[in-house]
Amino acid sequence: MLAMWSRIICADVRRQMLSLALILALQGFVGSADGVKNGSHHQPWTIDFQVPTSTIVTLNGTVATANVFTRAGLWKDVVSIIPKLLGACPQGQICWKTVNGGPCLANTSIQAPTSGNRGSIGQASFNYATTPGNEAAFSAMAGYQGSALCKAAPSQGSATRVGTSLTLTSSSINAVAQSFMFTVTLTSAASSGQPTRRRLLQDAAPISGQVITISFGDGSPDGTVTTNSNGTASIVHRYTTHGTYKATARYTGSTVFLASHAMGLVQNGMLSSSVSLANNPAIPVATEQVTFTATVASGAAGTMVLANLTVELAYGDGSTDTSTTNSNGQAMFNHTYATAGSFPVVASFAGNAAYSGSSTSESLIVDLESSHLGLLITPNPAFASEETTFNVTITSGGPGSPRLAGKTITLDYGEAYMSDTTSSSANGVATFTHTYCRFGDVTATATFAGNGTYSASSVNTTLTVKSHCPGRKLRRRLAAC
Ligand SMILES: *[C@@H]1O[C@H](CO)[C@@H](O)[C@H](O)[C@H]1NC(C)=O
Ligand SMILES: *[C@@H]1O[C@H](CO)[C@@H](O)[C@H](O)[C@H]1NC(C)=O
Ligand SMILES: *[C@@H]1O[C@H](CO)[C@@H](O)[C@H](O)[C@H]1NC(C)=O
Ligand SMILES: *[C@@H]1O[C@H](CO)[C@@H](O)[C@H](O)[C@H]1NC(C)=O
Ligand SMILES: *[C@@H]1O[C@H](CO)[C@@H](O)[C@H](O)[C@H]1NC(C)=O
Ligand SMILES: *[C@@H]1O[C@H](CO)[C@@H](O)[C@H](O)[C@H]1NC(C)=O
Ligand SMILES: *[C@@H]1O[C@H](CO)[C@@H](O)[C@H](O)[C@H]1NC(C)=O
Ligand SMILES: *[C@@H]1O[C@H](CO)[C@@H](O)[C@H](O)[C@H]1NC(C)=O
Ligand SMILES: *[C@@H]1O[C@H](CO)[C@@H](O)[C@H](O)[C@H]1NC(C)=O
Repeated sequence: MLAMWSRIICADVRRQMLSLALILALQGFVGSADGVKNGSHHQPWTIDFQVPTSTIVTLNGTVATANVFTRAGLWKDVVSIIPKLLGACPQGQICWKTVNGGPCLANTSIQAPTSGNRGSIGQASFNYATTPGNEAAFSAMAGYQGSALCKAAPSQGSATRVGTSLTLTSSSINAVAQSFMFTVTLTSAASSGQPTRRRLLQDAAPISGQVITISFGDGSPDGTVTTNSNGTASIVHRYTTHGTYKATARYTGSTVFLASHAMGLVQNGMLSSSVSLANNPAIPVATEQVTFTATVASGAAGTMVLANLTVELAYGDGSTDTSTTNSNGQAMFNHTYATAGSFPVVASFAGNAAYSGSSTSESLIVDLESSHLGLLITPNPAFASEETTFNVTITSGGPGSPRLAGKTITLDYGEAYMSDTTSSSANGVATFTHTYCRFGDVTATATFAGNGTYSASSVNTTLTVKSHCPGRKLRRRLAAC
């Protein structure tokens, strides 16, 4: 095994030695010519032969890569062995300049070439991103500075800056908050006249890592975003008042890319709104509470209810309330109508910075409340020619059956069309007195004719009128009457 390796190594070394001998022989030939020129200092084995080189610069984005190639031509095969033998070609550094020349911006050491650079014997890269300069044409100049074995070779690579195209779009993400999402997209643009081989990017290729400045058009500070791998970036902005704004996006360009800008109009206008109104019960009754629910939504057919808005409700009876919509967009109102009738109810939202106002109206029918009469007769049975007391109690049919004061009650005593009218007292009692003139059964009827609030009602009681003198029972008509 060892023997085999030593054979292989020896074969390699033999080949290399042969090459070296050849090189040295060639060098001796060239060197003696130099020696003649140098005259007095001729030394036969001094290596002052240098391999001619070339430097080719390619650009990828802001990164310039210089590859050093031998221009040995005839000596190509031989020369390719030299670096392996001596590790000396190419050695040293690449000087990076702008196309305008000047001092080296930086020197980078030559490294082994990466694969895919056929024929390159050394490579170095430099990123121009950090260097100032905004020339219309971006160029990199690389100079291989040579080494003991390899000649220096300056070269220059340049690329016209790639034209860019910037788009700016905006979309409303929260109409109530008046927030908009701005999205910019930076892509390469067709740049006519640019040599194809220098084209770094396809047309319409996304350009990443670029800072875009966005002015929102409302005087607020600009926003800055950095494009992602898709060449896009987004930022949210909130406008405080509605209106039309001219938003602009600016890309100032780089050494690689030309500047571009885009403009967009943002319509942060008033959106329409709608108000709907419902009431419970559907047909309310006077003196009883009715609950109104006004719902405010964005104009786009119920897509979004709007919370925290003030709704005014005119009940149509001269009174008005305001209430605020809850998270369901509902504003609730309780109201009690004093009288029955038809009322024009109007629910309105005055509008705000985001929404125009809206309203709805309905003609609300309010029914009469029912009333009830009670009739208490004392004494019962009554006695002819003695006073009989009638207490008529009037109550509301509403919750709690409150007594009704001030109601006009008519009491028909059931005798010869005699009747009286009086008002109910504060506790809802109308008191009547009557003296019957005859014996027998009578029907006393109390009537309330109703008013704008209460329906009419009546009550009747059949009453027996007796005599204190049973013997005179047949004599119906009393002398006293
Ligand atoms: C000749 O060679 C010597 C040493 O090799 C060097 O110092 C000198 O500069 C050279 N002269 C010229 C004219 O190249
Ligand atoms: C250019 O650079 C990018 C990233 O640095 C790399 O992905 C791409 O392959 C390079 N293009 C060429 C042609 O080398
Ligand atoms: C690069 O190297 C050159 C030559 O050796 C030297 O003059 C220059 O100062 C160096 N520049 C930088 C930035 O290192
Ligand atoms: C780029 O676009 C693709 C497809 O639309 C998406 O899947 C990806 O997440 C995007 N990348 C970034 C960084 O936004
Ligand atoms: C409701 O609106 C008022 C002003 O109209 C505002 O101050 C308040 O923060 C809002 N509340 C909510 C919960 O949005
Ligand atoms: C309406 O009245 C009901 C009780 O009858 C009450 O629960 C509700 O909170 C009231 N609503 C308003 C807005 O006053
Ligand atoms: C009838 O009403 C009067 C006045 O409200 C009251 O004083 C009287 O006690 C009542 N009579 C009866 C039997 O309730
Ligand atoms: C009906 O009577 C009630 C109770 O006394 C009163 O409040 C109301 O105003 C009256 N309605 C009309 C239309 O007179
Ligand atoms: C008495 O009341 C009853 C029912 O409440 C009614 O049917 C009747 O007609 C009334 N009678 C008179 C005389 O009003």
